[in-house]
Amino acid sequence: MEAFDLIIYNGVCITASDVGAYDIAIKGGKIALLAPSESLAAVDALRKIDAEGAYVTPGGVDCHVHLQEPVMFGKGSSSDTFETGSRSAIAGGCTTIVCFAPQQKHEPSLLRPLAEAHEKAQGNTYCDYGFHLLVSNPTETNLSELGRLKAEGVTSLKIYMTYEALQLRDDQILSVLHHARDHHILTMIHAENGDVLNWLTAQLEARKLFAPKYHATSRPSALEAEATNRAIVLSSLIANTPILLVHISDPEATHRIRQAQTAGQPVFAETCPQYLFLTRKDLDAPGFEGAKYVCSPPPRDEASQDVIWEGLRNGTFTILSSDHCPFSYNDSEKGKKACITHERPVGEFRHIPNGIPGVETRLPLVFSANKIPLTKFVEVTSTNPAKLYGLYPKKGAMMPGVSDADLVIWYPDDKLPDLTIRNEALHHANDYTPYEGIRVKNWPRYTILRGEVVWDNREIVGKKGYGQFVKRETAVLNNVWKVVEEQGSFDAALL
Ligand code: URP
Ligand code: ZN
Ligand code: ZN
Repeated sequence: MEAFDLIIYNGVCITASDVGAYDIAIKGGKIALLAPSESLAAVDALRKIDAEGAYVTPGGVDCHVHLQEPVMFGKGSSSDTFETGSRSAIAGGCTTIVCFAPQQKHEPSLLRPLAEAHEKAQGNTYCDYGFHLLVSNPTETNLSELGRLKAEGVTSLKIYMTYEALQLRDDQILSVLHHARDHHILTMIHAENGDVLNWLTAQLEARKLFAPKYHATSRPSALEAEATNRAIVLSSLIANTPILLVHISDPEATHRIRQAQTAGQPVFAETCPQYLFLTRKDLDAPGFEGAKYVCSPPPRDEASQDVIWEGLRNGTFTILSSDHCPFSYNDSEKGKKACITHERPVGEFRHIPNGIPGVETRLPLVFSANKIPLTKFVEVTSTNPAKLYGLYPKKGAMMPGVSDADLVIWYPDDKLPDLTIRNEALHHANDYTPYEGIRVKNWPRYTILRGEVVWDNREIVGKKGYGQFVKRETAVLNNVWKVVEEQGSFDAALL
């Protein structure tokens, strides 16, 4: 019998801390061994892959993915199912996604949306997956279910400071943070001031300004910075309970986060490729085309992109996720064009569904940009998300005997295929990508999930249903919950 199931030799492994030439042996879906380069080339295995000198990284962990959600972010619903979204994930080197189980405002339970999300995903995914609970009705009864959610492997929530269907008041945010702290559950916060943006939207509409570009005008930077500051203050009132500020786009918000971190507050932050590769000028494309770039917060300007890159380099941003939330452009029922009427040929930006696709392009775009070291690339796209969301070291690492054999083998420089991003070559169900025409410098050649090759030279070879639900533990990043507990209870802080 062969000693190993798979051996990858002649590769250069990159982790969050090191770059080194190692061979990798895989057995039973786990990394079994890392050994000096070429030392395993002659060892028996069911399959061997010559990495031909290319980089090998842990599989991508994307913990901000919206699939099969109801109408919540404008007039439209997601073009991707668990099947098509997870297929797109593996084609872009991502082996684990964490999606949302959305609670509607009227729902009297958190466990029910979780059960519904399981039903949609079970048997349909190509990659491993988990869930965050999206909480929009935080009654005491509903929040009393957090302990059971945690037992079910759901250790994070997302709440919103905007969107009519989801926005929480400050007292509701405090209640969520309070209960989350008790259960060591991480609260993700969408920080935009909903009341202000609604008022600005009405002002623009009164002036008959409806085109997609006014989406950005209705959401100026100050509105993200104000809400970010408020979220930080609210979490400080709950004895510094940990929060994660998602999809940060704005320099002022970034600065405020950095300040809180420097003061020792457990504030984590996420950014996304749209804030590194797109700008608000994209929303000013001719006719209705700008709708392809409508997401919230909106892309800003080039100077903001520089600040966001710097925030990745200096550690202000803990993770880089896709916020994959796709709506097809030419779909007049569920997509971007659902807001076009005879009277309003450029639609109404208020109703354009907010969100863009990106789970497949996240790793290639950032890997290629040459703006952060490769170890940092692995840290923010795989290792830190795994640590923050309780998946580490099963995911996001290459620890022999411990980590799942989730890996990406990139192309060696002399074997690169045509690497211009084209929607027709992507694997989501969306009819466009906002990154059309961008040339990247590399792409995953093989994606390996629990020892199985699922993406092989631009071909999906994995099977729908191979993806497994992963029960998550609490965050281990910076030993965050232990530090919080050592600093004292909420009651002590209150009194
Ligand atoms: O525009 C965005 N970001 N759509 C997805 C929903 C969200 O708030 O993450
Ligand atoms: Zn959000
Ligand atoms: Zn999102």
